[in-house]
Amino acid sequence: MNLRDIESKDDLRLIFEAFYKKAIQHEVIGHFFTAVVPIDLKTHLPIIVDFWEYNLFHKGSYNKNLLAIHQHIDDKFPIIYEDIDIWVSLLHQTVDELFEGTQSGRLKTNALSIATVMKLKIAKDC
Ligand code: HEM
Repeated sequence: MNLRDIESKDDLRLIFEAFYKKAIQHEVIGHFFTAVVPIDLKTHLPIIVDFWEYNLFHKGSYNKNLLAIHQHIDDKFPIIYEDIDIWVSLLHQTVDELFEGTQSGRLKTNALSIATVMKLKIAKDC
């Protein structure tokens, strides 16, 4: 199947709507989004899309400290390496279902490198 590449904020919205459907229902990591820090997708999605617009296209003004935000989540319920691996693989799977190309590859690589920093700085290996 020929898929096109990620080009716009609308494309990012499609990815993260599909990603959160999987993440929220996931038996291992779902509780982070429903119980540890219950997220309201109406307010959460635009923030995530702004983050990735800035990350991929250097547009917009997302400037919050992602590590501090996730440290705060870990303080409420410990994040372990396995959670992060699942998060990354759900995102990679979602991108691969919808898009392919340079930006799609960059999104996956950038997510993996941020996730690796989260492992080193926040998560526990157990
Ligand atoms: C185990 C892995 C992860 C879990 C369980 C998780 C969970 C969460 C939760 C519950 C929030 C909402 C926080 C709040 O509203 O206070 C959040 C926010 C966010 N997460 Fe994650 N996350 C994970 C990994 C990642 C990774 C690897 C990235 C980036 C590559 C990421 C990007 C974001 C962004 C951009 C926000 C929005 C922050 C803001 O409000 O400005 N997350 N995450």
